[in-house]
Amino acid sequence: MPRDTVKVVISRKLPKPVEQRMSELFDVELNTNDEAFTENRLADALERADVFVSTLTDNITAELIANAGSQLKMIAQFGAGVDNIDVKAAAQKGIIVTNTPGVLTEDTADMTMALILALPRRMVQGVDALRAGEFKGWSPTYMLGHRIFGKRIGIIGMGRIGQAVARRARAFGLEVHYHNRNRVSPAIEAQFATTYWESLDQMISRMDIISVNCPATPATYHLLHERRLKLLKPHAYIVNTSRGEVIDEDALISALEAGQIAGAGLDVFQNEPEINPRLLALKNVILLPHMGSATVEARTEMGEKVIINIKNFLDGHMVPDRVLP
Ligand code: DGY
Repeated sequence: MPRDTVKVVISRKLPKPVEQRMSELFDVELNTNDEAFTENRLADALERADVFVSTLTDNITAELIANAGSQLKMIAQFGAGVDNIDVKAAAQKGIIVTNTPGVLTEDTADMTMALILALPRRMVQGVDALRAGEFKGWSPTYMLGHRIFGKRIGIIGMGRIGQAVARRARAFGLEVHYHNRNRVSPAIEAQFATTYWESLDQMISRMDIISVNCPATPATYHLLHERRLKLLKPHAYIVNTSRGEVIDEDALISALEAGQIAGAGLDVFQNEPEINPRLLALKNVILLPHMGSATVEARTEMGEKVIINIKNFLDGHMVPDRVLP
């Protein structure tokens, strides 16, 4: 099938150069108003597309895949996480799924580090106070936060982003610890002078900062549940730039409300884009609108990866970022 007759339906507005390049290569259908597809629109797209370019706002369930047209051969996710796609159901129907890892690692790690720094140093509270006209001049006891240097960080998930966070944390003088499904190689452990904890419970009960950097999978759903959150030290902070589902959000909010932990920096939420009003009422949180990879560079490179994946697939070559169930 010639490439320019391949129907590629793109679910969201992408960076202009990416849309342009895709339009040159394929028979592209763009989403010009940039609203997330409704379930009906998603079903319709999957009925017509040869290749569907999805994002995390498309909930591609087994049912939608079962009803997809027989011409649908590929779901090319614009993003690293694929928790919105039933990859197993896709594989059973002979549809390949790809993602865009690697190119958003550094930017997501930067955002994680920004939250790690901003929370104990009360940066957002400082900005808010200044804007509200509450700054009456320097004082020895004004806006005191806590030192970051020398503290212990426990990284949950030592994949690409976890390692990039470890590198930054080391540079800021933090003692780096991690928990991962599988222990990483001694070379990687040595590179970040990091300590492995097989027991997540034991690790989190000893840390000053917890950074969630693992993907959302059935195994990580509510990994930080009520009982585990209770193990955290009262001065500990939690940062999550992965997926909201990894933390039991209600339990986290209760812990924050009760002052059981010091604070949380959240870039992701359980029911995005809805934010639990109890979270909004808290002072000891920094809440961001899922912007960990939101740089022009990352989003452009993610688009380039999508194009490479589609081209390789159509040309019958090895597809670099194939996701297996
Ligand atoms: C991803 O790629 O999964 C990110 O969350 C999108 O920014």
